[in-house]
Amino acid sequence: NSVDKGGYKHFMAKEIAEQPRVLSAAADYYLGGRDTADRMGRELLESIDFSNVDRLVMVACGTAALACHTAKYWFEQIARLPVEVDIASEYRYREPPLSDRTVALFVSQSGETADTLAALRYCAGKARKIVSVVNVATSSIARESDVALPILAGTEIGVASTKAFTCQLTVLATMAITAARQRGHLDAAAETKLCEQLMAVPRLVGQALTCEEEVKKIASHLGHVSDALFLGRGAMYPLALEGALKLKEISYIHAEGYASGELKHGPIALVDDKLPVVVLAPSDALFDKSVSNMQEVMARGGKIIMVSDQAGLSEGGEGVWKTIEMPTIEGPFAAITYAVPMQLLSYHTAIEKGTDVDQPRNLAKSVTVE
Ligand code: G6P
Repeated sequence: NSVDKGGYKHFMAKEIAEQPRVLSAAADYYLGGRDTADRMGRELLESIDFSNVDRLVMVACGTAALACHTAKYWFEQIARLPVEVDIASEYRYREPPLSDRTVALFVSQSGETADTLAALRYCAGKARKIVSVVNVATSSIARESDVALPILAGTEIGVASTKAFTCQLTVLATMAITAARQRGHLDAAAETKLCEQLMAVPRLVGQALTCEEEVKKIASHLGHVSDALFLGRGAMYPLALEGALKLKEISYIHAEGYASGELKHGPIALVDDKLPVVVLAPSDALFDKSVSNMQEVMARGGKIIMVSDQAGLSEGGEGVWKTIEMPTIEGPFAAITYAVPMQLLSYHTAIEKGTDVDQPRNLAKSVTVE
């Protein structure tokens, strides 16, 4: 393999750092073609044709499934398209009914995950279109799709997916914008604004990477805990799941992600003065709700690690244990940027514990057997 660590200690660190560049390549490929000769990306997106579709079914495994859960918020809010998300190992055996007005979408870094491929084969001939979002353009999943959209992340070696996840999100966001226009829910000005907000993400991700020093300090504590909780609302909810998944995968710390609103329905019973609770709370429409959830945790001694922007931290940061500052982000795509502190938190906690970051025990990069 010609890919090396490029001076980084681990592939994961290198792949985290590469994100501004690869995200900008992906956003350019799908959105930038307007004025240039290279319209490939735009044409791929247009060819899906969401105009007479009444449902989008998204199926994947692991981190790719969490990208689908995040994008569901965008497809519903921006494109007004009903979305169903499922993990492939469940979907393939459920015998779900499918109409020819459904687009079936499969997200896979490797394009070879056995359950995802089986779910795709189940949908072939039933759904209107089989679409995939893949990193490996020559993969089985890409080959068996009507439309295969490359995420252009470059080779990803670290078992815990980082740049592939944020590139998947970027491509799914371009798809949601395209679907919204095709379905008559976006005028030209609104579309331009969303495209600009998405094109700004690579720069925001670059800014988010500067939280690394702060994250290292937090990780020096996290390395010594046995459990952690991650909370988020809206599109930050699947990202809380991703933060917990990453921490489990590479640092072997038991972690759970929850929708903040579910706190009262169970996980609050776990809160004591030892439990770190990571709260993803950008200052958006749901901010006040997140702050009241944080207060519920703090009232029980829980240690909040608040991830927010400057306005959010000054408005709601009182009494929290630690803060991680993110740039201020306009529009619906903040989850892509907030993935960065989730990656760095798990990475530095794993370093603190001395676990094998790139090759965590029992895990495989690509699961090609059931
Ligand atoms: C494995 C990997 C994960 C990945 C999942 C799905 O579990 O360790 O990082 O998210 O498979 O893989 P895929 O290649 O389909 O995205």
